[in-house]
Amino acid sequence: MLNQLQTGIAITGSGSATPVVSLDNHGLSQWVETSDEWIKARTGIERRRLADAQVSVSQLATEAAKNAIAMSGIAPTDLDLIVLATSTPDDLFGTASQIQHQLGASKAVAFDLTAACSGFVFALATAAQFIRTGVYQNVLVIGADILSRWVDWSDRGTCILFGDGAGAIVMQANTSDRLLGFELRSDGTQNNCLQLAYQPQPKELLPGVTVAQGTFHPITMNGKEVYRFAVQKVPEVIEKALHRANLTAEQVDWLLLHQANQRILDAVAQRLKIPNERVLSNLANYGNTSAASIPLALDEAVRQGKVQPGNIIATSGFGAGLSWGAAIFQWGR
Ligand code: COA
Repeated sequence: MLNQLQTGIAITGSGSATPVVSLDNHGLSQWVETSDEWIKARTGIERRRLADAQVSVSQLATEAAKNAIAMSGIAPTDLDLIVLATSTPDDLFGTASQIQHQLGASKAVAFDLTAACSGFVFALATAAQFIRTGVYQNVLVIGADILSRWVDWSDRGTCILFGDGAGAIVMQANTSDRLLGFELRSDGTQNNCLQLAYQPQPKELLPGVTVAQGTFHPITMNGKEVYRFAVQKVPEVIEKALHRANLTAEQVDWLLLHQANQRILDAVAQRLKIPNERVLSNLANYGNTSAASIPLALDEAVRQGKVQPGNIIATSGFGAGLSWGAAIFQWGR
């Protein structure tokens, strides 16, 4: 129920973009010692899109954003805010303003938000606060990542999992409220389970004055711990968000999880007693695209006509931080 100061929120458009190059498991097994059977059985992934050196996060994000804006029927100049969820920015100072420029969204303020594979859900909840309070009316939320730039391609335990892509949604102030509930969580005690950490190298400028010059170290992961964490925490956080929305899992039309691993999707759906035919999954084709995976899967399902206006969607992102969150919304105005 909204009080007088609060504004309703609707998600009125979606878009996505992926690099053209697709590498299947057979191709990948020519690079690292693995097999199509192993990858499919453990993860459900069959192929992934990979960005070459000419592709940037801002390009993919801008293409996804243009598609979302077109679907929503607004103009880029109507946008008040752009939130880019990414852990692989083109520029550590922020990539969102490049997207703002490329879109011609001259009125919009733009910033990056980093929460790894939870980034899209965190960005959606952040954007919602600006709309709820009446500050902004039209907000673009993008999830975009090129994790192939930060994967250790000699580590078969991780390099098989990830792919590149972007997805976006337009969120608008609306007379009816379609964002029904959300819940966000972090647990830094488990930070070392999944990292893309800066490795400082001391550099002495003068005696007694040392700074650090270094680079980010490729992704390290404790797969078993992350798996355990996801299967335990994701159903809990979805139930909490459903409770806030005054709904039960039975009323959910679509379960839309971060596309990390089919076994995680299956286990979470089973815990929530949501049948497989109500679970959106496209990870066979894209792998884990981090912040992009939820809006990419949403956009495909919308354009395929699976997700219909008024459908109730329970979405959850989870990953490094560790961080996790869920949001419950109805598609459309
Ligand atoms: N191909 C073939 N064999 C592989 C392999 C690969 N790509 N990767 C690992 N193996 C081998 C291991 O060396 C090990 O062999 P051993 O038994 O001889 O030692 C065996 O397969 C089992 O490895 P293990 O790491 O225990 O596998 P697992 O069952 O935990 O599956 C993951 C690994 C990564 C698929 C699984 O842990 C997982 O999905 N975790 C969640 C990761 C995730 O989703 N992260 C992102 C969250 S946002």
